[in-house]
Amino acid sequence: MVRQPLVLGAIGLSCIGIALGGINTTKPVKKVNYAEHVAPILNRSCVPCHRPNEVAPFSLIGYDNAKKWARMIAKVSDSRLMPPWKAEHGYGEFQDENRLTNSEIATLKAWVGTGAERGDKKKEPKLVLPASDWTLGQPDMIVSPSKAFKLDAEGDDVYRNFVIKTNSDQPIWVKAMDVHPGNRKVVHHVIVFVDNNGMSDKLAAKTTDGQEGYVSQGGGVGFLPSGALGGWAPGLRPIMNAQGTAFKVNPGARLVVQVHYHKSGKPEEDLTKVGLYVAKEPIDKEIHLAWIMNFGLNIPAGESDYKIARNYKVPTDVTLRFVLPHMHLLGRKMEAHVVLPDGSEKPLIKVNDWDFNWQLMYAYKEPIKIPKGSTIVVNAQYDNSANNLRNPNSPPKRVTWGEQTTDEMFLLVAGYTRD
Ligand code: HEC
Repeated sequence: MVRQPLVLGAIGLSCIGIALGGINTTKPVKKVNYAEHVAPILNRSCVPCHRPNEVAPFSLIGYDNAKKWARMIAKVSDSRLMPPWKAEHGYGEFQDENRLTNSEIATLKAWVGTGAERGDKKKEPKLVLPASDWTLGQPDMIVSPSKAFKLDAEGDDVYRNFVIKTNSDQPIWVKAMDVHPGNRKVVHHVIVFVDNNGMSDKLAAKTTDGQEGYVSQGGGVGFLPSGALGGWAPGLRPIMNAQGTAFKVNPGARLVVQVHYHKSGKPEEDLTKVGLYVAKEPIDKEIHLAWIMNFGLNIPAGESDYKIARNYKVPTDVTLRFVLPHMHLLGRKMEAHVVLPDGSEKPLIKVNDWDFNWQLMYAYKEPIKIPKGSTIVVNAQYDNSANNLRNPNSPPKRVTWGEQTTDEMFLLVAGYTRD
């Protein structure tokens, strides 16, 4: 007989057996404890965010914290709210997929059933925390505006572009970028653009409010940027790009750090910092970003199943390295695949439960070769009905493309190198 992993309703019973094995084996009933069974799961999958100075609001380091949160841990793991990982398993293979197995979820639930037993303290795994509060370690360069930006209490969202000079007479090859928002109450997201032509300086020179940088409308930077290094939104974790690949920042280029501010109701200040990791090895492939968009979004009020797609013909042989889906609050699903010239298809990403709070970047385990003439197909689905609890408009109204959180977007950012 196979014991089924227990459903949530069983939490609270003591002494719960769980099926840890495959389908036809019945493993002996095992007493679950923190030291041997729970700590390894939490340390690996939760503590990277649930520790001091990280994105999560409380720490899950050590037995006392874990015990305090035991019920919630089981609950949010079971519903797969945590750890936040929105890509459907098996549709594309990604690095660092942070997803609990069914038996790990069963373990967490069974642990609650034991009254959150500690087990043998000496068996608790040693937790090694990074020496730096930057996820990838201390950056080679940290850039930021020279002083905090002052934001009014109320009004529309603000897109402020801070212009930062790079002082290098050689190209800077950026392997990874990380952003530390200064004030999480108001920083909605951050994108770092590259300007090789001094356009941003001209715009900043026109600013009259006495603060650094300049305001742009519609989410762009007010000119066609030379490139972008990526961005930050809640939950986004930086990735180190593959050996021999990096973003290029030309000598004398400006970095334009665009911070999207959402006002909090009180005057606030923010000083956002950008950490750059510079290549130590020779770089032979520059990383580019493709922005696959559909501006044609036009979602009727009340429409619960609005579908829209974009087919993007790939103009040259490329290797796809990572993707980042982006929608706002009405977005429910996004799926992308590539149709190769021989007609065969490869999955790229599928998010069935889009959550605006988790704008994750997904890097492929094996980069995907995409020959010239292939078509990347992106499908998205939106729910503009009153039943969508995240719908920012009450009652619902017609929504089109736009930069405010109450507008919508259809965007798949794809990071690639040319072959
Ligand atoms: C990528 C970062 C990240 C990871 C990994 C992560 N969390 Fe979280 N967690 C958060 C953030 C941020 C919040 C606050 C979310 C919010 O306010 O929406 C949160 C909230 C929670 C909450 C409170 C939920 C609520 O409704 O109040 C629990 C419980 C939790 N996490 C447990 C876990 C567990 C258990 C794991 C590992 C299995 C985990 N988290 C992994 C970032 C993370």
